[in-house]
Order: sequence, then structure tokens, then C-alpha cells
Amino acid sequence: MKRLSIYLGTICLLGTLCSCTNFSQGQEIGSVSMKSGTTELDSEIEGKVDSLLSLMTLEEKIGQMNQYSGFWDVTGPKPEGGSEAKKYEDLRKGLVGSMLNVTGAKEVLEVQKIAVEETRLGIPLLIGFDVVHGFKTVSPIPLAESASWDMEAIKRSAEVAAKEAAVSGINWTFAPMVDITRDARWGRVMEGAGEDPFLGSAIAKARVTGFQGDDLTSPYTIAACAKHFAAYGFAESGRDYNTVDVGTSTLYNIVFPPFLAAKEAGVRTFMNSFNEINGVPATGNAWLQREILKGKWDFNGFMVSDWGSINEMISHGQAENGKYAAERAIIAGSDMDMESYHYLNYLAELVKEGKVNEDLLDDAVRRILRVKFELGLFENPYQYSDPSVENEVVGSQEIQDAVLDMAKKSIVLLKNEKRLLPLKRSGQNIVVIGALASDKTSPLGNWRTGAENGTAVSLLEGLQQYQGNTITYVKGPAFVDGEISFPKQLQINETKTSGMIEAVNAAKKADIVLVALGEHGMQTGEGRSQVDIGLPKLQQQLLEEVYKANPNVVLVLHNGRPVAIPWAAEHIPSILEVWQLGTQSGHAIAQVLYGDYNPSGKLPMTFPKAVGQVPIYYNHKSTGRPNEPAPGEVFWSHYTDMDNDPLFPFGHGLSYTQFEYQDLKVEVDPSQVLVSFELKNIGGLDGKEVVQVYIQDVFASITRPVKELKGFELVSLKAGESKTLNFILTDKELGFYNNQGEFFVEPGDFKVFVGGSSNTVLESEFNLAQQLR
Ligand code: NOJ
Repeated sequence: MKRLSIYLGTICLLGTLCSCTNFSQGQEIGSVSMKSGTTELDSEIEGKVDSLLSLMTLEEKIGQMNQYSGFWDVTGPKPEGGSEAKKYEDLRKGLVGSMLNVTGAKEVLEVQKIAVEETRLGIPLLIGFDVVHGFKTVSPIPLAESASWDMEAIKRSAEVAAKEAAVSGINWTFAPMVDITRDARWGRVMEGAGEDPFLGSAIAKARVTGFQGDDLTSPYTIAACAKHFAAYGFAESGRDYNTVDVGTSTLYNIVFPPFLAAKEAGVRTFMNSFNEINGVPATGNAWLQREILKGKWDFNGFMVSDWGSINEMISHGQAENGKYAAERAIIAGSDMDMESYHYLNYLAELVKEGKVNEDLLDDAVRRILRVKFELGLFENPYQYSDPSVENEVVGSQEIQDAVLDMAKKSIVLLKNEKRLLPLKRSGQNIVVIGALASDKTSPLGNWRTGAENGTAVSLLEGLQQYQGNTITYVKGPAFVDGEISFPKQLQINETKTSGMIEAVNAAKKADIVLVALGEHGMQTGEGRSQVDIGLPKLQQQLLEEVYKANPNVVLVLHNGRPVAIPWAAEHIPSILEVWQLGTQSGHAIAQVLYGDYNPSGKLPMTFPKAVGQVPIYYNHKSTGRPNEPAPGEVFWSHYTDMDNDPLFPFGHGLSYTQFEYQDLKVEVDPSQVLVSFELKNIGGLDGKEVVQVYIQDVFASITRPVKELKGFELVSLKAGESKTLNFILTDKELGFYNNQGEFFVEPGDFKVFVGGSSNTVLESEFNLAQQLR
């Protein structure tokens, strides 16, 4: 505490000396009082950090704050002046604290040896990489994993990702992305947990604990990074990198909670975001980084900038040059510069000119060194760099099993009207249509930077494991024109119809037609926002023509964002949402199609009927005019050309069996509210259901959403079995943040809703006479 107050004292002093307007701008938003757990500091490590720090020159300190991308790979625009030769030279001089995009035990060993054996102090490097949903063997995209609502599986997926990455030299992942978003146009929805802060917080915790494990020094765990702090998911019109203008209440109640959950789970690093908040780019935002994160939340790890985001403060129109951008960023609390080189180029000068207090650098370096010690890098800098262990672990059965398990659990059955699913095991003539069905790259999704193209099990390969039916494949029109690569824009075929007639003719002869359509894996991700989130033109045409030829269609929907498919939702009897499921994709889909795994996924994000409804989310406010006063009247909150309802609501997902909810009871006692109800499997098959509990604080000093998720559980029930479920609501679930960031519970009327989606089936209410104890 003493350290913290001295530290904040320094900042305030600097705020006066350096006209730190971004900090005072933050204060306009109001002071914050967040509840947060404290990550205890290890006194032995602190002693080592202090003594190492005392040996360091100013240049060496700045070196620790500099992160270079590898010599052969980029995940952002290349800055000027970053030649390979210069990077090697700086590495030898001890001017590099971390590298990203260097992977492989052998390659990492090469750079780590330079840092450890050739620099004056021999400080090892942090080796960062975007291990977002696996490394070489990939899990479903994070949005898909989130659809499992299965925290154990999600944790396990992060655990095996960490293991495979760690043996390939990586000791730090830039994940999890915990940005809440409500905008399906934003390409990065694939990378997060969807729209809900409660689910998002649980997933943030699962991912952080999966990556970091109990022991960061283990050769199989890596440091995690909660990103992008903050509100990056609220980019206006869903356009990536766009301005964010988010209200205070939304910031505290929707945006911050998953970050706080990551912090409480012990995440060791944060990454700031490209956007501005209240006119201050996050990278230069002292309110966010100093006051909230390092102050109120007492976060003692470090903050890395996003790629070149210090430099981008110039384009934002806040800093007139790189030197001023560096000054703003360090004062605001950005500890490490990813690929803009401004810390390296200007920090020494800024310190010498008295514009930046060296204490700020010491604080940043202390945080960075702390994480290096916690990872055990000083004791064993080469532990992540043994090619024989790498060979043994990468792609091993253990990892394949975990990603397959995760993939099955991520699938969501959106519709199954004629009970076309599960497929019969024999005697069926099944025609499979669509370029995605044989695609071995697209299922890997975006941000699978370590995986090779063509390494996913395709849907067709998965189906071939089942021998009883006749399978005929007709590709239909090509999906994509030309090259598929990480930094390049994907060219979707909109015109070449060849293959359409063949597909339609084949459909006519089938008992069942499986049509694999949707988005390509590289259609979402960074820089891939879209204004149209429906099926691309040719695919829609293909679907309609196939359906005309044979209505027994199962749409196997691939996508990285919620898609608007109203025609398909109305006409196609069965729709299976398979996202981009990773390396084991085809096996997972086939097992669900045949009923070897009974689908249990639920949507983590609302699917709209039309892009014009976006942002559309279940936990919206009531507004002053929520209801149609009389049929046909216009003066209420609605559209004149479409209703307000989503296509598929948040939390929606079916099973091959059916569940019934009954007997909701709510009991209030002085310290908690007990919600109980009965769930019964009334179908003929064993299955799993994600039961969901929502509340509404009916009247509050700050308006509350019409529904807020406050509990869920994945429940397995045998056919005919029933179970009583109990949920406890405490002040944590019933309270909210006011606009000063204070968390409290307001006594009064509450509603409770229960069901298998946010379209709940049971409802009750209670009155809270006083605050809970
Ligand atoms: C930019 C992205 O926004 C960030 O999420 C990623 O970690 C870095 N590039 C590094 O690749």
C-alpha cells in the first residue's frame, strides 16, 4: 500500500509537471472504487528484481521496455527503420526485452542465447505470440469455444495450447481477448467470448487459469495477456480500429468486468487497445492504465502496447510526433512498446530533459522483470527451447483429444424441425454440397498463426469415418478467388456459378442434403469488418436452388461472427452452427451429425435478422417506450420495416432430446437469494443442457437491463431423468456499478427468469427489503 501511494504520488506530481491532461480527463469520468483481489508479491522475487534494477543503465532499462517482432513475421503494419540487421544489433546491445512472432524451439533458442549470453546483464527475453486458440494444433475459435459454456473444457483447451506453444519456445501469449462486443460486423468477434459480461468473465478466468496453470515456472505454462484494455469491441459501426464512444455505465458494467475477472484470476499482463476513450487513445490513457488498472485494481503485472499503438497516437491526433507519443504513453502507464520503436528512440532523451521521471521507467521495468522471474526465465532460460520435447508434444494425441472434445462441445444446433438430425446410420443417400465441406484450411479460423494451411480435418473426411450411408460430394461454386493468407484481404467468389447445376442435380437424388455454407475462416479476425453479414450472394442462391430441388436440407453453417440468415432460418429444416472448429473440425461435426455427441452448445452472441438491427443484444435497456401502444402505432421504440426480435437469441441452442423447466422457487434470506427449479429430460435421449438464470433489477437509480445473466450450469441428464438445481444470488450478482464506479446493491423489486436461452420459460420475483449482508 505504501508503495502504491508513493507511486500514485509520483504520477500526480508528473501530471502537474507534464500537463498530463489525459489523466485529469480520466478524472472527469469520476473516481473508481472497484472490488479487486490482490495478487501477492513474492518477496524473494521482489528482492531479485530490485537488485537487478539497481545494476541497470538507463539504456538497458529502456531495452526491457522494447518489444520487436521477429525478423521473418509480422502481425501488423511494418514500421519504418526495423531492419533485420538493426534488430539483431539491438538484441546484442541489450536493447530488446521481448520479441513476438519468433516461434519454434530452435529459432527461439537462437535469440534467447544472444540475450542471455551476449548482453551485459544476460536478461532473458519474453517470447510473445498470439496463441489465441491453440498453436499448431488448433481449437475452435474463441467465440465457438464460448458457445460450449463449459468452463472445464475451455480451461483445458487453453492448457493444451499453452503446452504446445511452450515447447515451441513461447513463454507469453497475447490472449485471452476479453473484449465484450455487441456488433457482428466487427471482424474480431471471433476472438472473444461474445456479448455478455457474466459469461465473458467466467471464460476470461477459465482461459487465464488454463494458460498460466498453478505454476508459471512449469515448462508447459505461459503468461497470459488480457486484451484489449479497453472497449475495443465497441468500435463505432463495427469497423475495426474505429473510434469508441462508450458511456460510463456501460464501461463499468459491461466492458470492465471480464478484465477484472482476468486480473483476479492472476493474469500477468494486459494489452492496451487501438481505440480512444473520451478522446484519449487507450495507450495514452492514464485514467485507464494508472488509475483503474494499476491503482484501484492493484494490478502488479505489466501493460504492453498493442502493435504500434504508441505511434498511432500521432494519427489519432493526440501526439504531434513519436517523441511526444512516447512521453504520453509512459506517463499513462504503457510499460512495453510493441513495434513502434518510440521508447527506444526517445525515452532516454525524455528522461534527460526532465520530461519523464526515471521512476516511471523503473516501475515499468520492475513489472517486466517480475514477470520474467515468475516464469523462471532467469533460472532456466532455455527450458522452452528443446526441439526433442517440441517434436514429442506438438500435435500429440493428448492435444488432439482436447481440441476434439472442445470442438464437439462448441457446436450449436440452431434448428431441427423435421428431425433430420441425427442422421440415420445406414441406408441413406447423403449428398454433401459446398466448397467448405472439403476445405482443410478454413476450419482453422483466423488467429491460428502457428498452424499450417490444410491441416484441419475437413467435414468430408469426418463423414468418411461413418461407413453405413452412401456419401456423394459435389463442391458447387468456388468459395474464394485466389490466395488465402493472413495479412491479405480475402476475395470471395461472387460471380462464377460453375458447379451450381451439378449440385442441384445431385440434391434431387438424395435422401438428405448436407450443405456447408457460411463464412470462410479468414473472413473474420483483425481488420476484417463487414457491412453485410448474410450469406454471400452465390451461396444464398446455391442454398435456395438446392432447397427447391430437395427440401430435406441440413445447413452446416460455418462462420466466425453471428450471421443474418433469415431466409435459411425460415425454410431450412435443420441448421447446425459449426463456426470454425479447428484442427479436428470434421470429426467433431460428423460425430454431432450422427448423434455420437448430442449437441449442447448455446449462442454466446445474438444472431440478428438483418444487419440493420445491429448492435442487438439481449441485455438491453427497457427504454421509455418499449411497447407498441396499439396495433400499428408508430411512437414506440421499434423499426417500421422489421420487428425488434433477433433471429436466434443469446443463449439459444437445441439438443436431440428435450428439456422441461418447472417449479421455480425463490427464497430470500438476509445474506442471499436462493433460486431453485427442476429440470427434466423429457426426450428419448441422454443429453446436456446449459440452464441459465437471469435477473432484472426492476427499478434502480441507474436503469438496469431487461435481463442479466447471473448464473448458468451445464447439466447432464439421462433420458427421463430430472434434477433440482439451486443457484445462490448474493450482492455480487444483484448489484451494479454506479457512474462513479462504486459497486452496490439497491433494495427493491427484482425479477428472476430461468430457461435454456435468454428467451426464458419461467419467471418469478422477489423484494429485497434491505442490502444483503
Ligand atoms: C495487433 C492485435 O490487435 C493484437 O491483438 C495482437 O496481439 C498484436 N497485433 C500482435 O500480433
